[in-house]
Amino acid sequence: MDKYISIKDLEDAALEVLPKATRDYYKSGATDEFTLAENKRAFQRIRIRPKCLVGIKGCELKTTVLGETVSMPIAIAPSAMQRMAHPDGETANVKAAQTKGVVYTLSTISTSSIEEVAEAAPNALKWFQLYIYNDREITKKLVQRAEKAGFKALLLTVDTPLFGVRRADVRNKFNLPKHLNLANFEGDMSTKIHESGEGSGLNHYVSGLFDKGLTWDAIKWLKSITKLPIVAKGVLRGDDAVRAVEAGCAAVLVSNHGARQLDGVPATIEALPEVVSALRGRDVEVYMDGGVSTGTDVYKALAIGAKMVFVGRPALWGLAVGGQAGVEKMLDIFRSELEYTLQLAGTPDVAQVTRDMVKHESEYAKL
Ligand code: FNR
Ligand code: LAC
Repeated sequence: MDKYISIKDLEDAALEVLPKATRDYYKSGATDEFTLAENKRAFQRIRIRPKCLVGIKGCELKTTVLGETVSMPIAIAPSAMQRMAHPDGETANVKAAQTKGVVYTLSTISTSSIEEVAEAAPNALKWFQLYIYNDREITKKLVQRAEKAGFKALLLTVDTPLFGVRRADVRNKFNLPKHLNLANFEGDMSTKIHESGEGSGLNHYVSGLFDKGLTWDAIKWLKSITKLPIVAKGVLRGDDAVRAVEAGCAAVLVSNHGARQLDGVPATIEALPEVVSALRGRDVEVYMDGGVSTGTDVYKALAIGAKMVFVGRPALWGLAVGGQAGVEKMLDIFRSELEYTLQLAGTPDVAQVTRDMVKHESEYAKL
């Protein structure tokens, strides 16, 4: 693992080893992939303003999320079907999260079940990502199983009435390999994904199953069936963030789904200030994901007001390269880069990373 120095190194190595259809599914964004590139480019337009001679004595990355302590403000985002990346899939990923003390989020559409993941890493801080199915009984069972298995929060994905157009998946007629299934379901619901339709098998699977008619009332329904805190995942506007909180969400995750849904939406780091300012004064947490690939990216998101960031693809790259050890390596690289950044910026404790620590490049251009 020592030869991997950056997240980009892991990505390059993963892209070499993954079979084409899986590689394309993991890396693709929607249509022209404009927002996919912007998710990364927008970080580069933000400058860090270090403080000098602050007297560094140590470095503190620990923080709390929804009342639980994590070793650093970086979590693993939910991504579907992780056994395509490595035979141990989600169970290897969650074990790495456990070892490193970070949140692991399990996707509804996973190739290891809620119970398998809980058993693999009983002490990990686990959150469950929820897609709401037309069949509310199916949905309710998922929520109850997650709660019973010790998951501590529900991330309701709010940007997915249907999946976006990922052209490579259409070309490849992407589908879950036959030896794998959707482990949270039984019978048809588990294997229906193997049926091919026109284009992407995943989009075919989802159409007709996910509740397209979902509104913010879904949060009230969820609250009637669970005590778990609910995080709205996929918010890009201040007014939606307020709606989420007024409906009862404990936190909002600013996300464009890894730029896989609607192309042309803002980079998430650009959408973050609007959401942070809309929620100012309310007792809720804001997180972000999308394009985070260095410690300085994490730092910039914290400065703008995120309590924690999530990483999606970096965990898949780690998993593909080395299973649990690969994901641990990914987390170690982020930790080390964030430690350097915190100290060199003169804010050695994550709690000191305030809004004044960054400026948009346009402010420097004004001569
Ligand atoms: C995802 N994402 C996602 N989100 C979700 O709510 N449920 C899911 O099942 C999935 N599945 C999924 C699969 C793959 C292959 C990717 C790349 C992403 C979105 C994910 O949670 C997160 O929002 C993004 O991945 C963040 O962007 P980065 O870190 O990948 O740039
Ligand atoms: C995706 C889904 C599964 O982005 O969320 O592919």
